[in-house]
Amino acid sequence: MSDTEKLQEEALTAIVGADSLDALETLRVGYIGKQGSISGLMKTLGKMTPEEKQVQGPLLNGLRSAVADAIAAKKSELETDALNAQLASEKLDMSLPAPDAPHGSIHPVSQVMEELAEIFADMGFAVAEGPEIEDDWRNFSALNIPETHPARAMHDTFYFPDKDAEGRDMLLRTHTSPVQIRTMTTQEPPIRIIAPGRTFRSDSDATHTPMFHQVEGLVIDKDIHLGHLKWTLETFLKAYFEREDIHLRLRPSYFPFTEPSAEVDAWYTLEKGRRVLGGHPDDANEGGWMELLGSGMVHPKVIANCGLDPDVWQGFAFGCGIDRLAMLKYGMDDLRAFFDGDLRWINHYGFDALDVPTLSKGVGA
Ligand code: DAH
Repeated sequence: MSDTEKLQEEALTAIVGADSLDALETLRVGYIGKQGSISGLMKTLGKMTPEEKQVQGPLLNGLRSAVADAIAAKKSELETDALNAQLASEKLDMSLPAPDAPHGSIHPVSQVMEELAEIFADMGFAVAEGPEIEDDWRNFSALNIPETHPARAMHDTFYFPDKDAEGRDMLLRTHTSPVQIRTMTTQEPPIRIIAPGRTFRSDSDATHTPMFHQVEGLVIDKDIHLGHLKWTLETFLKAYFEREDIHLRLRPSYFPFTEPSAEVDAWYTLEKGRRVLGGHPDDANEGGWMELLGSGMVHPKVIANCGLDPDVWQGFAFGCGIDRLAMLKYGMDDLRAFFDGDLRWINHYGFDALDVPTLSKGVGA
């Protein structure tokens, strides 16, 4: 018997006799691993004369593949044995009680977005969406915020290093107002939409997080005036907070994309030390005005920027922080906890997935 044959016989015997996957792996490393004996023999091929190589090459290659095949066959045999042994030892007791089903819950922000959609759908509004990565034309310029406008600096914008295909700066939208532009440039009026979603600003403290949520409202039609705006906001807030005694104050303000602009305050009273919307400023109560949202009549320039004739079409718009709305209704006091991903928080404040808000039930029920 040649040396090669002897080595092969020895190897195959050892492989067939291996009694565990570990033992088999040790054999594999010993024979055909990087430093293995057969691998060592293969390396000697390089130093042989062409004539020797012609004889030894096929022999050594044959040896190597015989050993590799034997190892693969043994490996699958041992694996099958291991599986059979495991199956024989495990029992499934169908009479055991079911384990606690892990269940998720709906984040208050998602819940509030559903509530908003429900309330506004009842008033004939559709839900519109826009991308979180915007261009500076839709986020700023088209909204009558030119490049030199101080509002651009105020927004603490996150910019991307690259420009988009049209050469516009790209950014994380700083508000949901660009959805106004997206809607007016793609839909024929009359328009009635709300646009809830994520917004981003480089800002972080107890009441600001770099990512937060807003809802935008937009109505474009003929003969729309501030009265429609006030009625819409009152109707929305009464339905959302589920009380009739919501009192609003429209305070003159300034936004580049509305003219006139108004900040909307609501009267709050103190209940157990907590600010709760409701009550009336004329009542003898301890309360005050709380700023809720920004709004106004859509600026004619914005309407024209979207290719519509501002002499024909007017409308109103508003923008409101959703996280704040959730805190006011459900009583959380730290905005940052919204986005910490703490299971205890979500278990406490989260909503059942089947608890879909409906107006008939009361949206917050
Ligand atoms: N986009 C404004 C902001 O983020 C909020 C806002 C104010 C939206 C007035 C509007 C509006 O649509 O009319 O501060």
